[in-house]
Amino acid sequence: MRIGILGSGLMGGKLGTIFARSGHEVVFSFARSKEKLEKLARDAGKNARAGTPREAAQNADAILLAVHWSRVDKVLKQAGDLSGKVVLTCSLPMNAADTKLVIGTTTSGAEKLARKIPRAHVVCAFNTVPSEVLFGVFEAKRRKARPTLVYCGDNKRAKNVAARLIRDVGFDPVDCGTLDIARYTEPFALLVAQLAYEGKDGPELAYRFQRF
Ligand SMILES: NC(=O)c1ccc[n+]([C@@H]2O[C@H](COP(=O)([O-])OP(=O)(O)OC[C@H]3O[C@@H](n4cnc5c(N)ncnc54)[C@H](OP(=O)(O)O)[C@@H]3O)[C@@H](O)[C@H]2O)c1
Repeated sequence: MRIGILGSGLMGGKLGTIFARSGHEVVFSFARSKEKLEKLARDAGKNARAGTPREAAQNADAILLAVHWSRVDKVLKQAGDLSGKVVLTCSLPMNAADTKLVIGTTTSGAEKLARKIPRAHVVCAFNTVPSEVLFGVFEAKRRKARPTLVYCGDNKRAKNVAARLIRDVGFDPVDCGTLDIARYTEPFALLVAQLAYEGKDGPELAYRFQRF
């Protein structure tokens, strides 16, 4: 697939690299420096290149949205028309200090995003995993007892795309239903982050929890 990365930081940089190394064509975009995007693309190998958000979105079979919640509108504006596109979001609706969800219970960041881009097909995926474990999961290439990763969305085709990409990273995709289930997976993602960054055993504990 051709995959456009909107936000090439911890999540976008790592997932984009893994997608490129799995054989997908990847365009990295939306970092603060062009040099960083170019280095990411070089390190990810021959299937990756750097571009603008518009170039990343154009012709993409799937788009990964991986920016801070406060920058979603900005990157969407730069990406242009996303009609008919599959948009995977790992962005959590956090406040500016990254201490609290600003949305929850009655709606979710994923649903709000879907309302901003009503002609696109949004799938909420990858937000329940700390970026630190991504390369380890990919490199382990497990056939059995893979760690699981939940995803949700309303469009079947978009969910099939998400499931394939989740498998390519090395997880077992678990379809947990319609996009409104993100109301529960987004706070769950914070629980995993709490375990990873505040808990006694750090990312390893979060990883074991994921695998369970
Ligand atoms: N990190 C995790 O483990 C994790 C796990 C689950 C969900 N998430 C969610 O995934 C999303 C992305 O998280 P992340 O950790 O990948 O974030 P990040 O490392 O900060 O990456 C965000 C991207 O946005 C870019 N950006 C563009 N303009 C920016 C500006 N003015 N200021 C700051 N950054 C700017 C950053 O550029 P630079 O590359 O130049 O910094 C970077 O490429 C967030 O919504 C987060 O809640 C993250």
